[in-house]
Amino acid sequence: MKHSVSSTLFIGKSIISLEQLDSTNSFASNLCTNEDVMEGLIIVTDWQKNGRGQPGTSWQSEAYKNLTFSLILQPKFLDAKNQFQLNKAISIAIIDALNEITHLSFKIKWPNDIYYNHKKIAGILIENQLQNNTIKNSIIGIGININQVDFDQNLPNPISLQQIMNKTYNLNTVLDLICTKIEQRYLILRSQQYDIINYDYLQNLYQFQEKCSYSADGKKFDGIIMGVSEYGKLLVSVNNTIKEFNFKEIEF
Ligand code: BTN
Repeated sequence: MKHSVSSTLFIGKSIISLEQLDSTNSFASNLCTNEDVMEGLIIVTDWQKNGRGQPGTSWQSEAYKNLTFSLILQPKFLDAKNQFQLNKAISIAIIDALNEITHLSFKIKWPNDIYYNHKKIAGILIENQLQNNTIKNSIIGIGININQVDFDQNLPNPISLQQIMNKTYNLNTVLDLICTKIEQRYLILRSQQYDIINYDYLQNLYQFQEKCSYSADGKKFDGIIMGVSEYGKLLVSVNNTIKEFNFKEIEF
């Protein structure tokens, strides 16, 4: 399918749309390493054969049913140490789009999984190419389950838009909306309005301020998510002490 994005200023104005690909993130990463790429370029495929997830995981997506794409941004205004701001902005943008489509409530499971109730509908893999202390290229890989209804039994808890809403969606329409929302959030970030991004991230954070059970170092404990640190660590109150967790240090 030939994808196109029409309602944005720069995101998705150029699109490389390929029927099959191993991984849109790998393709984008090679492209950025080998040439100067215009900000806003999107690589999208109908059939991603070897999708990559967070380190150590893969992203499975049935051909022609879902959105799997990578967007290249050049947030030169962001210090490398603040790169988690981009994860926040992108996560919120996906929530914005899903809320608009469904009028339901989606949540961000820290750091940037997108959940509906206790099931995962979308995953984000951001790979930054750094230069000195700035981000030269940020490769933002997004996989969203749209029309798939059969999932591999081994996947923990997948869900799709079709399963939630009982109807099928036009993939390009959803892509267009997501790009619009990403652009809006990116412009907020670019104008340094971090308080808006931080506030909306917490408002949409899964299990924020709820007492829930977690585990770390093989031990189970009750904790309350209080927020995220400046650089993106999860802050959890455990027995009235705030503990900081890195990705993979805590299990939900
Ligand atoms: C995760 O939840 O672990 C992140 C999943 C990210 C999947 C997307 S699909 C498009 C892009 N290309 C990839 O190989 N991965 C990302």
